[in-house]
Amino acid sequence: MTDDRRLAIIGLGYVGLPLAITFVEAGLEVEGVDASPDRIAAINSGRSPVDDVSDQRLAAALGSGLRVVLSADARMAAADVVFVCVPTPITPTKDPDLGPVLAAAATVRDGLRAGQLVILQSTTFPGTTTGQFREALERTGLRAGTDFDLAFAPERVNPGDPASAGRGVPRLVGGLTPAATARAATLLRRISDRVIEMSSPDAAEMAKVLENTFRNVNIAFVNQLALLCERMGLDVWEVIDAASTKPFGFMRFLPGPGVGGHCIPVDPYYLSWRARQFDFTDRFIEAAGDINLAMPRHVVDLVAEALNDRGKALKGARVGVVGVAFKPDVRDPRNSPASAVLAGIAVRGGEVRYHDPHVPTFRDEAGNVHDAVELEDLLPWADVVLIVTAHRAVDWEQVFRSSDLVVDTVNASKERGVRPRQVLRLGAGWLPSVTGP
Ligand SMILES: NC(=O)c1ccc[n+]([C@@H]2O[C@H](COP(=O)([O-])OP(=O)(O)OC[C@H]3O[C@@H](n4cnc5c(N)ncnc54)[C@H](O)[C@@H]3O)[C@@H](O)[C@H]2O)c1
Repeated sequence: MTDDRRLAIIGLGYVGLPLAITFVEAGLEVEGVDASPDRIAAINSGRSPVDDVSDQRLAAALGSGLRVVLSADARMAAADVVFVCVPTPITPTKDPDLGPVLAAAATVRDGLRAGQLVILQSTTFPGTTTGQFREALERTGLRAGTDFDLAFAPERVNPGDPASAGRGVPRLVGGLTPAATARAATLLRRISDRVIEMSSPDAAEMAKVLENTFRNVNIAFVNQLALLCERMGLDVWEVIDAASTKPFGFMRFLPGPGVGGHCIPVDPYYLSWRARQFDFTDRFIEAAGDINLAMPRHVVDLVAEALNDRGKALKGARVGVVGVAFKPDVRDPRNSPASAVLAGIAVRGGEVRYHDPHVPTFRDEAGNVHDAVELEDLLPWADVVLIVTAHRAVDWEQVFRSSDLVVDTVNASKERGVRPRQVLRLGAGWLPSVTGP
């Protein structure tokens, strides 16, 4: 059995940096590699760029086996195993952009040598590892499966949720050969109690996109239910809470202003693009994408409706947004629905400011850059307060005490003793509900 002790990890973001530190904590030597000089400088100065890694944990790793360098300075040939954890974005027309993966493959290629194991960890469509990624590596003249080992092992971390990063989270791995699968699984067992060996990289890639597409489709389903409940005078939050008491056969998903982050709004398009190469249209993915992408526009309509209730127009109104990160308690603004909401309000003539304790500046979809303001400055300024993301660190009592008009897209107002016709909730109408007790 190969004794893989020296690792290189390319891409030190939400996935790669925690992975690098976890392996160092397990006693391995890790060279972390990134293309961004700012990121390398931040990490080497002990400032963690990701929520799930504290500065203390980073400092401990830097003091015991973690070396962090720019791609150009990487000593790839010294590694026994190379992980690739770079972004897998989509283009403006929602096609996969494998640019970062193939650029990382070029870095791997610079030091590729017989006997190495290369593991792609970036989420991607089935066929990437054995297709473009393998072809890029084999330009060295070395052959995957004979000269070097190749595998795909997806990541399951859920930023902001410590339980998602521990040893208890099972890992999937599929290698090009049974030997590659077994070798990668042996390594992953150093950081995970359960590793599932799959029949191929393609199957592991498909399992990962299934996980995220499942989430995207179900969120779209409850978003659509929220729109229906608004029309029917029902409270979607009450309905979902009630359905969630069923102890089997039901899984709770919540509606909201749209989906965000690096994964859920992006990964399904990797699968639908790949499906088209097989003359296959994945209608669930297309429908879910349409529904979720339309939610920010609906949120802007709710703001206009709330203002209308006060005899005001959105044009010229001051809209104070609370929370712009893509989900609670993280600083990640990538693909946040707040981006389209802020731009949509501006297009209809509203003036926008925002408060977010975790996001100091925010660029909206139209390219406008906003600076965060303090809550005590935002609330008296705003004609209407719009809750997009409900961070725990926000003083919610103050939000509801100091605001006369609130649009709540995430049910943050639930059980907060709000005044009649103060809060218009997505999926439920005015709180207290006119149909309620
Ligand atoms: N963020 C998540 O919650 C999550 C969860 C599971 C899987 N994933 C997947 O993991 C992958 C990485 O996501 P992330 O959230 O860590 O991204 P990220 O943007 O946080 O980090 C990516 C890092 O890669 C670096 N990079 C980009 N191109 C590079 C190159 N050619 N060479 C070296 N470094 C390069 C960037 O500078 C950045 O530091 C994606 O495929 C994503 O879908 C993400």
